[in-house]
Amino acid sequence: MRVAILSSEAVPYAKTGGLGDVAGALPKALRETNGADAALILPLYETTDRNLLGSLIIDNLEVEWHAGGSTPTRVFYSTTTGAPAFLIDAPRYFARPGIYGYRDDYERFAFFCRAALALLKRLGNPPDVVHGNDWHSGFAIAELAARRHYDSFYSNTRTVFSIHNLAYQGAFDPAELPRLGFANEWQTFETDGTASGMKAGLAAADVISTVSRRYALEIQMPEHGYGLDWLLRLRRDRLVGITNGIDYDVWNPATDPHTAARYDANDLGGKGICKLDLLRQFNLPEESARPIVASISRLIPQKGYDLIREAAVSILESGAFFIALGSGARENEDFLQALRDYAPHRVGVYLGFNEQLAHKIEAGADIFLMPSLYEPCGLNQMYSTRYGTVPVVRATGGLDDTVQNFDRARGDGNGFKFERYSTGAMVESLYEAVYCYHDREAWRKIQWNGMREDNSWQRAARRYTELYHAAARM
Ligand code: ADP
Ligand code: GLC
Repeated sequence: MRVAILSSEAVPYAKTGGLGDVAGALPKALRETNGADAALILPLYETTDRNLLGSLIIDNLEVEWHAGGSTPTRVFYSTTTGAPAFLIDAPRYFARPGIYGYRDDYERFAFFCRAALALLKRLGNPPDVVHGNDWHSGFAIAELAARRHYDSFYSNTRTVFSIHNLAYQGAFDPAELPRLGFANEWQTFETDGTASGMKAGLAAADVISTVSRRYALEIQMPEHGYGLDWLLRLRRDRLVGITNGIDYDVWNPATDPHTAARYDANDLGGKGICKLDLLRQFNLPEESARPIVASISRLIPQKGYDLIREAAVSILESGAFFIALGSGARENEDFLQALRDYAPHRVGVYLGFNEQLAHKIEAGADIFLMPSLYEPCGLNQMYSTRYGTVPVVRATGGLDDTVQNFDRARGDGNGFKFERYSTGAMVESLYEAVYCYHDREAWRKIQWNGMREDNSWQRAARRYTELYHAAARM
Protein backbone atom coordinates (compact mmCIF):
# COMPACT_ATOMS: atom_id res chain seq x y z
CA MET A 1 0.00 0.00 0.00
CA ARG A 2 1.71 3.17 -1.20
CA VAL A 3 0.31 6.33 0.37
CA ALA A 4 1.19 9.97 -0.23
CA ILE A 5 0.15 12.18 2.68
CA LEU A 6 -0.33 15.86 1.87
CA SER A 7 -0.30 18.41 4.65
CA SER A 8 0.28 22.13 4.99
CA GLU A 9 2.33 21.51 8.14
CA ALA A 10 4.20 18.65 9.79
CA VAL A 11 6.56 18.43 12.76
CA PRO A 12 9.49 19.06 12.75
CA TYR A 13 9.39 21.07 9.52
CA ALA A 14 6.48 23.39 10.28
CA LYS A 15 3.87 23.63 13.00
CA THR A 16 1.19 26.03 14.12
CA GLY A 17 -1.04 23.50 15.89
CA GLY A 18 -2.18 19.90 16.14
CA LEU A 19 -2.23 19.23 12.40
CA GLY A 20 1.56 19.60 12.48
CA ASP A 21 1.84 16.98 15.22
CA VAL A 22 -0.45 14.57 13.39
CA ALA A 23 1.16 14.88 9.96
CA GLY A 24 4.60 14.48 11.53
CA ALA A 25 3.67 11.32 13.41
CA LEU A 26 1.28 9.43 11.13
CA PRO A 27 3.65 8.54 8.24
CA LYS A 28 6.18 7.21 10.71
CA ALA A 29 3.56 5.15 12.57
CA LEU A 30 2.24 3.73 9.29
CA ARG A 31 5.70 2.51 8.41
CA GLU A 32 6.41 1.16 11.90
CA THR A 33 3.20 -0.88 11.88
CA ASN A 34 3.87 -2.09 8.33
CA GLY A 35 0.53 -0.53 7.47
CA ALA A 36 1.68 1.45 4.49
CA ASP A 37 4.67 2.71 2.59
CA ALA A 38 3.88 6.31 3.46
CA ALA A 39 5.55 9.50 2.30
CA LEU A 40 4.76 13.02 3.34
CA ILE A 41 4.54 16.03 1.01
CA LEU A 42 4.49 19.57 2.38
CA PRO A 43 5.59 23.05 1.37
CA LEU A 44 9.04 24.31 2.29
CA TYR A 45 8.51 27.48 4.32
CA GLU A 46 10.91 30.25 5.16
CA THR A 47 10.53 29.21 8.80
CA THR A 48 11.57 25.59 8.16
CA ASP A 49 14.89 24.78 9.79
CA ARG A 50 17.33 24.33 6.88
CA ASN A 51 19.29 21.75 8.89
CA LEU A 52 16.35 19.38 8.51
CA LEU A 53 16.52 19.37 4.72
CA GLY A 54 18.23 16.33 3.32
CA SER A 55 19.10 16.48 -0.35
CA LEU A 56 17.84 18.53 -3.26
CA ILE A 57 16.32 15.79 -5.40
CA ILE A 58 14.58 17.84 -8.07
CA ASP A 59 16.07 21.07 -9.27
CA ASN A 60 13.28 22.09 -11.59
CA LEU A 61 9.86 20.52 -11.12
CA GLU A 62 7.56 21.12 -14.08
CA VAL A 63 4.16 22.13 -12.73
CA GLU A 64 1.21 22.88 -15.02
CA TRP A 65 0.24 26.25 -13.64
CA HIS A 66 -1.29 29.24 -15.33
CA ALA A 67 -2.15 31.54 -12.41
CA GLY A 68 0.21 34.24 -13.69
CA GLY A 69 3.90 34.71 -13.06
CA SER A 70 6.61 32.09 -13.28
CA THR A 71 6.86 29.72 -10.37
CA PRO A 72 10.23 27.97 -10.23
CA THR A 73 9.90 24.90 -8.05
CA ARG A 74 12.44 22.58 -6.46
CA VAL A 75 11.99 19.59 -4.21
CA PHE A 76 14.00 18.57 -1.16
CA TYR A 77 13.95 15.10 0.33
CA SER A 78 14.34 14.44 4.05
CA THR A 79 14.01 11.42 6.33
CA THR A 80 14.33 13.29 9.62
CA THR A 81 11.10 11.87 11.03
CA GLY A 82 11.85 8.29 10.07
CA ALA A 83 9.48 8.52 7.11
CA PRO A 84 10.33 10.09 3.75
CA ALA A 85 9.25 13.69 3.34
CA PHE A 86 9.24 15.78 0.18
CA LEU A 87 9.37 19.53 0.66
CA ILE A 88 8.10 21.68 -2.20
CA ASP A 89 10.29 24.74 -2.53
CA ALA A 90 8.40 27.44 -4.44
CA PRO A 91 9.65 30.79 -3.11
CA ARG A 92 6.97 32.74 -4.95
CA TYR A 93 4.38 31.24 -2.62
CA PHE A 94 6.19 30.04 0.45
CA ALA A 95 9.16 32.32 1.10
CA ARG A 96 7.17 34.50 3.49
CA PRO A 97 7.53 35.14 7.21
CA GLY A 98 4.40 33.16 8.18
CA ILE A 99 2.80 29.88 7.21
CA TYR A 100 -0.78 31.13 6.79
CA GLY A 101 -2.66 34.40 6.79
CA TYR A 102 -2.10 35.75 3.28
CA ARG A 103 -4.79 37.00 0.91
CA ASP A 104 -3.72 34.48 -1.71
CA ASP A 105 -3.61 31.46 0.62
CA TYR A 106 -6.07 29.58 -1.61
CA GLU A 107 -3.77 30.14 -4.58
CA ARG A 108 -0.67 29.15 -2.60
CA PHE A 109 -2.15 25.83 -1.53
CA ALA A 110 -3.80 25.17 -4.90
CA PHE A 111 -0.30 25.46 -6.27
CA PHE A 112 1.11 23.22 -3.56
CA CYS A 113 -1.41 20.50 -4.51
CA ARG A 114 -0.68 20.74 -8.19
CA ALA A 115 3.05 20.58 -7.48
CA ALA A 116 2.54 17.53 -5.22
CA LEU A 117 0.73 15.64 -7.98
CA ALA A 118 3.40 16.66 -10.51
CA LEU A 119 6.05 15.40 -8.09
CA LEU A 120 4.38 12.00 -7.65
CA LYS A 121 4.26 11.62 -11.39
CA ARG A 122 7.87 12.60 -11.75
CA LEU A 123 8.84 10.01 -9.11
CA GLY A 124 7.23 7.51 -11.42
CA ASN A 125 5.29 5.11 -9.21
CA PRO A 126 1.60 5.89 -8.80
CA PRO A 127 0.42 5.91 -5.17
CA ASP A 128 -2.50 3.67 -4.23
CA VAL A 129 -3.90 6.41 -2.04
CA VAL A 130 -3.42 10.15 -1.76
CA HIS A 131 -4.37 11.26 1.74
CA GLY A 132 -5.15 14.97 2.00
CA ASN A 133 -5.54 16.91 5.25
CA ASP A 134 -7.78 19.93 5.72
CA TRP A 135 -8.71 22.49 3.10
CA HIS A 136 -5.15 23.06 1.89
CA SER A 137 -5.11 19.59 0.31
CA GLY A 138 -8.66 19.68 -1.06
CA PHE A 139 -7.39 20.90 -4.43
CA ALA A 140 -5.42 17.69 -4.91
CA ILE A 141 -8.42 15.54 -4.00
CA ALA A 142 -10.57 17.40 -6.55
CA GLU A 143 -7.91 17.19 -9.21
CA LEU A 144 -7.45 13.44 -8.73
CA ALA A 145 -11.18 12.83 -8.99
CA ALA A 146 -11.09 14.50 -12.40
CA ARG A 147 -7.74 13.17 -13.52
CA ARG A 148 -8.45 9.52 -12.97
CA HIS A 149 -10.72 9.64 -16.02
CA TYR A 150 -8.13 10.86 -18.48
CA ASP A 151 -4.68 10.41 -16.93
CA SER A 152 -3.73 6.73 -16.87
CA PHE A 153 -0.99 7.38 -14.30
CA TYR A 154 -3.64 8.21 -11.72
CA SER A 155 -6.43 5.90 -12.89
CA ASN A 156 -6.04 3.57 -9.89
CA THR A 157 -5.22 6.15 -7.25
CA ARG A 158 -7.93 6.60 -4.60
CA THR A 159 -8.32 9.45 -2.13
CA VAL A 160 -8.81 9.89 1.61
CA PHE A 161 -9.56 13.35 2.96
CA SER A 162 -9.23 14.14 6.68
CA ILE A 163 -10.94 17.01 8.43
CA HIS A 164 -8.91 18.43 11.30
CA ASN A 165 -10.97 21.55 11.65
CA LEU A 166 -14.10 22.22 9.60
CA ALA A 167 -14.21 25.87 10.61
CA TYR A 168 -11.24 26.70 8.42
CA GLN A 169 -12.29 26.23 4.80
CA GLY A 170 -9.99 28.44 2.73
CA ALA A 171 -12.89 30.21 1.02
CA PHE A 172 -12.33 32.21 -2.18
CA ASP A 173 -14.25 33.69 -5.08
CA PRO A 174 -15.36 30.92 -7.46
CA ALA A 175 -14.50 33.24 -10.36
CA GLU A 176 -10.87 32.32 -9.54
CA LEU A 177 -11.43 28.64 -10.37
CA PRO A 178 -10.41 28.85 -14.07
CA ARG A 179 -7.13 30.59 -13.15
CA LEU A 180 -6.37 27.78 -10.72
CA GLY A 181 -7.01 25.20 -13.43
CA PHE A 182 -10.44 24.10 -12.19
CA ALA A 183 -12.66 25.61 -14.87
CA ASN A 184 -14.79 22.46 -14.98
CA GLU A 185 -14.98 21.80 -11.25
CA TRP A 186 -17.27 24.62 -10.22
CA GLN A 187 -19.74 22.18 -8.65
CA THR A 188 -17.05 20.44 -6.67
CA PHE A 189 -15.74 23.65 -5.11
CA GLU A 190 -18.72 25.95 -4.85
CA THR A 191 -21.40 26.25 -2.21
CA ASP A 192 -23.52 29.30 -1.34
CA GLY A 193 -21.60 31.52 -3.71
CA THR A 194 -18.10 30.75 -2.41
CA ALA A 195 -15.54 28.17 -3.38
CA SER A 196 -13.30 26.34 -0.95
CA GLY A 197 -10.68 23.63 -0.71
CA MET A 198 -12.67 22.12 2.16
CA LYS A 199 -15.86 21.76 0.14
CA ALA A 200 -13.87 20.27 -2.76
CA GLY A 201 -12.15 17.72 -0.53
CA LEU A 202 -15.42 16.64 1.04
CA ALA A 203 -17.27 16.47 -2.27
CA ALA A 204 -14.58 14.62 -4.21
CA ALA A 205 -12.87 12.23 -1.75
CA ASP A 206 -13.45 8.49 -1.96
CA VAL A 207 -13.28 8.27 1.83
CA ILE A 208 -13.59 11.04 4.45
CA SER A 209 -12.27 10.90 7.97
CA THR A 210 -12.09 13.20 10.91
CA VAL A 211 -10.11 13.11 14.11
CA SER A 212 -12.57 11.79 16.70
CA ARG A 213 -15.80 9.82 16.74
CA ARG A 214 -17.83 12.49 18.41
CA TYR A 215 -16.67 15.21 16.03
CA ALA A 216 -17.67 12.95 13.12
CA LEU A 217 -21.23 13.14 14.45
CA GLU A 218 -21.14 16.80 15.48
CA ILE A 219 -20.15 18.06 12.03
CA GLN A 220 -23.24 16.49 10.52
CA MET A 221 -25.31 19.01 12.45
CA PRO A 222 -25.72 22.71 11.63
CA GLU A 223 -24.20 23.92 14.90
CA HIS A 224 -20.77 22.48 14.02
CA GLY A 225 -21.21 22.02 10.29
CA TYR A 226 -20.04 25.48 9.16
CA GLY A 227 -22.40 25.36 6.21
CA LEU A 228 -21.21 21.93 5.08
CA ASP A 229 -23.20 19.68 7.43
CA TRP A 230 -25.61 18.86 4.58
CA LEU A 231 -22.72 17.50 2.53
CA LEU A 232 -21.41 15.46 5.45
CA ARG A 233 -24.86 14.00 6.04
CA LEU A 234 -25.10 13.19 2.36
CA ARG A 235 -21.75 11.41 2.46
CA ARG A 236 -21.96 9.94 5.94
CA ASP A 237 -21.51 6.39 4.64
CA ARG A 238 -18.00 7.50 3.65
CA LEU A 239 -17.21 9.32 6.90
CA VAL A 240 -15.34 7.81 9.87
CA GLY A 241 -13.82 9.22 13.05
CA ILE A 242 -10.31 8.11 14.05
CA THR A 243 -8.98 9.62 17.25
CA ASN A 244 -5.46 11.01 16.90
CA GLY A 245 -2.63 9.32 18.68
CA ILE A 246 0.31 10.88 20.42
CA ASP A 247 3.90 10.50 19.38
CA TYR A 248 5.67 8.95 22.36
CA ASP A 249 9.03 9.71 20.76
CA VAL A 250 8.20 13.38 21.27
CA TRP A 251 5.74 13.43 24.20
CA ASN A 252 6.99 11.07 26.87
CA PRO A 253 7.90 12.14 30.42
CA ALA A 254 10.32 9.21 30.71
CA THR A 255 12.55 10.46 27.87
CA ASP A 256 11.66 14.13 27.37
CA PRO A 257 14.86 16.13 26.71
CA HIS A 258 13.10 19.46 27.35
CA THR A 259 12.15 18.88 30.99
CA ALA A 260 14.16 19.25 34.19
CA ALA A 261 13.70 15.59 35.21
CA ARG A 262 12.37 12.31 33.82
CA TYR A 263 9.57 10.26 35.40
CA ASP A 264 6.92 7.66 34.67
CA ALA A 265 3.70 6.21 36.11
CA ASN A 266 5.58 4.07 38.64
CA ASP A 267 7.77 6.84 39.97
CA LEU A 268 6.51 10.40 39.85
CA GLY A 269 9.46 11.83 41.79
CA GLY A 270 10.70 13.72 38.73
CA LYS A 271 7.40 15.52 38.32
CA GLY A 272 8.01 17.46 41.54
CA ILE A 273 11.36 18.64 40.17
CA CYS A 274 9.65 19.70 36.92
CA LYS A 275 7.08 21.64 38.93
CA LEU A 276 9.73 23.62 40.79
CA ASP A 277 11.56 24.23 37.54
CA LEU A 278 8.34 25.53 35.95
CA LEU A 279 7.67 27.90 38.87
CA ARG A 280 11.22 29.21 38.54
CA GLN A 281 10.79 29.73 34.78
CA PHE A 282 7.96 32.13 35.56
CA ASN A 283 9.54 33.73 38.63
CA LEU A 284 6.77 32.37 40.82
CA PRO A 285 7.30 31.42 44.46
CA GLU A 286 8.35 27.81 44.94
CA GLU A 287 5.22 26.77 46.79
CA SER A 288 4.98 23.20 45.65
CA ALA A 289 1.86 22.36 47.66
CA ARG A 290 -0.14 24.85 45.61
CA PRO A 291 -1.61 23.32 42.43
CA ILE A 292 -0.65 24.75 39.06
CA VAL A 293 -3.51 25.16 36.60
CA ALA A 294 -2.12 25.52 33.08
CA SER A 295 -3.27 26.30 29.57
CA ILE A 296 -1.40 25.97 26.27
CA SER A 297 -3.35 27.05 23.25
CA ARG A 298 -3.99 29.26 20.34
CA LEU A 299 -5.81 32.18 21.97
CA ILE A 300 -8.89 32.03 19.78
CA PRO A 301 -12.63 31.61 20.48
CA GLN A 302 -12.49 27.85 19.63
CA LYS A 303 -10.38 27.27 22.71
CA GLY A 304 -12.89 28.76 25.14
CA TYR A 305 -10.78 31.69 26.16
CA ASP A 306 -13.80 33.83 26.98
CA LEU A 307 -14.62 31.35 29.77
CA ILE A 308 -11.07 31.54 31.08
CA ARG A 309 -11.28 35.32 31.08
CA GLU A 310 -14.56 35.37 32.95
CA ALA A 311 -13.34 32.77 35.44
CA ALA A 312 -9.82 34.10 36.01
CA VAL A 313 -10.51 35.46 39.48
CA SER A 314 -12.27 32.23 40.51
CA ILE A 315 -9.30 30.24 39.28
CA LEU A 316 -7.00 32.24 41.54
CA GLU A 317 -9.48 32.04 44.42
CA SER A 318 -9.19 28.26 44.26
CA GLY A 319 -5.69 28.79 45.63
CA ALA A 320 -3.95 27.69 42.44
CA PHE A 321 -1.21 29.20 40.32
CA PHE A 322 -2.29 29.90 36.74
CA ILE A 323 0.23 29.51 33.93
CA ALA A 324 -0.65 30.23 30.30
CA LEU A 325 1.31 29.76 27.08
CA GLY A 326 -0.29 30.97 23.89
CA SER A 327 -0.64 33.46 21.12
CA GLY A 328 -3.57 34.69 19.10
CA ALA A 329 -6.35 37.23 19.54
CA ARG A 330 -5.12 40.55 20.83
CA GLU A 331 -7.84 40.87 23.47
CA ASN A 332 -6.81 37.53 25.02
CA GLU A 333 -3.13 38.44 24.99
CA ASP A 334 -3.92 41.78 26.65
CA PHE A 335 -6.09 40.03 29.17
CA LEU A 336 -3.35 37.58 30.16
CA GLN A 337 -0.85 40.36 30.58
CA ALA A 338 -3.27 42.31 32.76
CA LEU A 339 -3.95 39.20 34.85
CA ARG A 340 -0.26 38.72 35.44
CA ASP A 341 0.10 42.36 36.52
CA TYR A 342 -2.86 41.89 38.85
CA ALA A 343 -1.41 38.79 40.55
CA PRO A 344 2.29 38.55 39.69
CA HIS A 345 2.95 35.94 42.40
CA ARG A 346 0.25 33.63 41.18
CA VAL A 347 0.17 34.03 37.42
CA GLY A 348 2.74 33.16 34.76
CA VAL A 349 2.24 34.14 31.14
CA TYR A 350 4.25 33.55 27.98
CA LEU A 351 2.86 35.07 24.81
CA GLY A 352 4.22 33.42 21.68
CA PHE A 353 4.98 29.96 20.38
CA ASN A 354 7.49 27.97 22.41
CA GLU A 355 7.80 24.23 21.91
CA GLN A 356 10.21 23.63 24.79
CA LEU A 357 8.05 25.55 27.22
CA ALA A 358 5.02 23.50 26.13
CA HIS A 359 6.88 20.39 27.31
CA LYS A 360 7.93 22.02 30.57
CA ILE A 361 4.34 23.03 31.27
CA GLU A 362 2.93 19.57 30.53
CA ALA A 363 5.48 18.11 32.93
CA GLY A 364 5.36 20.72 35.68
CA ALA A 365 1.65 21.56 35.90
CA ASP A 366 -0.95 19.69 37.98
CA ILE A 367 -4.15 20.56 36.12
CA PHE A 368 -4.59 21.29 32.43
CA LEU A 369 -7.54 23.50 31.54
CA MET A 370 -9.12 23.09 28.07
CA PRO A 371 -12.68 24.48 27.99
CA SER A 372 -13.04 24.42 24.20
CA LEU A 373 -16.19 25.64 22.50
CA TYR A 374 -15.55 22.85 20.00
CA GLU A 375 -12.56 20.54 19.57
CA PRO A 376 -12.16 18.14 16.65
CA CYS A 377 -9.72 16.03 18.65
CA GLY A 378 -7.33 18.04 20.82
CA LEU A 379 -3.88 16.78 21.66
CA ASN A 380 -2.91 18.64 24.81
CA GLN A 381 -5.41 16.78 26.97
CA MET A 382 -3.75 13.53 25.85
CA TYR A 383 -0.24 14.89 26.40
CA SER A 384 -1.44 15.97 29.83
CA THR A 385 -2.68 12.55 30.92
CA ARG A 386 0.61 11.05 29.79
CA TYR A 387 2.51 13.56 31.93
CA GLY A 388 0.36 12.98 35.02
CA THR A 389 -1.28 16.39 34.57
CA VAL A 390 -5.00 16.06 35.07
CA PRO A 391 -7.20 17.56 32.32
CA VAL A 392 -10.31 19.63 33.00
CA VAL A 393 -12.17 19.86 29.70
CA ARG A 394 -15.49 20.64 28.15
CA ALA A 395 -17.28 17.54 26.84
CA THR A 396 -17.06 18.30 23.13
CA GLY A 397 -15.54 16.49 20.14
CA GLY A 398 -12.35 14.60 20.90
CA LEU A 399 -12.21 15.99 24.43
CA ASP A 400 -15.36 14.06 25.23
CA ASP A 401 -13.98 10.88 23.65
CA THR A 402 -10.62 10.98 25.43
CA VAL A 403 -11.43 12.31 28.91
CA GLN A 404 -13.52 10.31 31.38
CA ASN A 405 -14.78 11.89 34.58
CA PHE A 406 -13.01 10.63 37.67
CA ASP A 407 -15.28 8.51 39.82
CA ARG A 408 -14.06 8.39 43.39
CA ALA A 409 -16.08 5.32 44.36
CA ARG A 410 -14.96 3.21 41.43
CA GLY A 411 -11.55 4.80 41.13
CA ASP A 412 -11.77 5.12 37.35
CA GLY A 413 -11.51 8.11 35.03
CA ASN A 414 -8.59 10.28 33.95
CA GLY A 415 -9.87 13.83 34.45
CA PHE A 416 -12.84 16.12 34.87
CA LYS A 417 -15.28 17.35 32.26
CA PHE A 418 -18.32 19.55 32.05
CA GLU A 419 -21.09 19.76 29.46
CA ARG A 420 -22.48 23.27 29.35
CA TYR A 421 -20.41 26.00 27.74
CA SER A 422 -20.56 28.28 30.74
CA THR A 423 -18.18 29.81 33.24
CA GLY A 424 -20.17 28.30 36.12
CA ALA A 425 -19.90 24.77 34.77
CA MET A 426 -16.19 25.16 34.10
CA VAL A 427 -15.44 26.59 37.54
CA GLU A 428 -17.40 23.81 39.22
CA SER A 429 -15.36 21.18 37.40
CA LEU A 430 -12.12 22.99 38.11
CA TYR A 431 -12.92 23.28 41.81
CA GLU A 432 -13.65 19.58 41.93
CA ALA A 433 -10.22 18.97 40.45
CA VAL A 434 -8.51 21.31 42.91
CA TYR A 435 -10.36 19.65 45.79
CA CYS A 436 -9.24 16.25 44.58
CA TYR A 437 -5.67 17.49 44.18
CA HIS A 438 -5.46 17.90 47.95
CA ASP A 439 -6.50 14.27 48.45
CA ARG A 440 -3.16 12.68 47.59
CA GLU A 441 -4.50 9.17 47.22
CA ALA A 442 -7.32 10.11 44.87
CA TRP A 443 -4.99 12.34 42.87
CA ARG A 444 -2.41 9.59 42.52
CA LYS A 445 -5.15 7.32 41.21
CA ILE A 446 -6.28 9.79 38.52
CA GLN A 447 -2.70 10.34 37.46
CA TRP A 448 -2.09 6.61 37.31
CA ASN A 449 -5.21 6.03 35.22
CA GLY A 450 -4.16 8.67 32.70
CA MET A 451 -0.50 7.80 32.50
CA ARG A 452 -1.21 4.13 31.85
CA GLU A 453 -3.48 4.75 28.84
CA ASP A 454 -2.42 3.68 25.40
CA ASN A 455 -2.91 6.65 23.11
CA SER A 456 -0.11 5.61 20.79
CA TRP A 457 -0.13 6.39 17.10
CA GLN A 458 0.26 2.69 16.39
CA ARG A 459 -3.36 2.13 17.21
CA ALA A 460 -4.60 5.01 15.05
CA ALA A 461 -2.24 3.97 12.25
CA ARG A 462 -3.94 0.57 12.08
CA ARG A 463 -7.28 2.26 11.59
CA TYR A 464 -5.90 4.49 8.85
CA THR A 465 -4.47 1.41 7.16
CA GLU A 466 -7.94 -0.16 7.11
CA LEU A 467 -9.28 3.05 5.65
CA TYR A 468 -6.68 3.09 2.88
CA HIS A 469 -7.60 -0.47 1.97
CA ALA A 470 -11.28 0.43 1.94
CA ALA A 471 -10.51 3.37 -0.37
CA ALA A 472 -8.34 1.24 -2.64
CA ARG A 473 -11.22 -1.20 -3.11
CA MET A 474 -13.51 1.57 -4.37
P1 ADP B 1 -5.11 22.92 17.67
O1 ADP B 1 -4.49 22.15 16.58
O2 ADP B 1 -6.54 23.23 17.44
O3 ADP B 1 -4.32 24.15 18.02
P2 ADP B 1 -4.38 20.65 19.39
O4 ADP B 1 -4.65 20.40 20.81
O5 ADP B 1 -4.71 19.56 18.44
O6 ADP B 1 -5.11 22.00 18.99
O7 ADP B 1 -2.84 20.90 19.16
C1 ADP B 1 -2.16 22.03 19.59
C2 ADP B 1 -0.68 21.77 19.48
O8 ADP B 1 -0.01 23.01 19.37
C3 ADP B 1 -0.09 21.08 20.69
O9 ADP B 1 1.03 20.33 20.32
C4 ADP B 1 0.31 22.27 21.56
O10 ADP B 1 1.30 21.94 22.49
C5 ADP B 1 0.81 23.22 20.51
N1 ADP B 1 0.75 24.64 20.87
C6 ADP B 1 -0.32 25.46 20.83
N2 ADP B 1 0.02 26.70 21.19
C7 ADP B 1 1.34 26.67 21.46
C8 ADP B 1 2.30 27.66 21.87
N3 ADP B 1 1.96 28.93 22.09
N4 ADP B 1 3.58 27.27 22.04
C9 ADP B 1 3.93 25.98 21.83
N5 ADP B 1 3.09 25.02 21.45
C10 ADP B 1 1.81 25.35 21.25
C1 GLC C 1 -7.09 20.78 14.54
C2 GLC C 1 -8.07 20.72 15.68
C3 GLC C 1 -7.59 19.90 16.86
C4 GLC C 1 -6.94 18.61 16.39
C5 GLC C 1 -5.85 18.91 15.39
C6 GLC C 1 -5.17 17.65 14.87
O1 GLC C 1 -6.18 21.81 14.66
O2 GLC C 1 -8.44 22.02 16.12
O3 GLC C 1 -8.67 19.61 17.71
O4 GLC C 1 -6.40 17.91 17.48
O5 GLC C 1 -6.41 19.56 14.29
O6 GLC C 1 -6.06 16.75 14.28
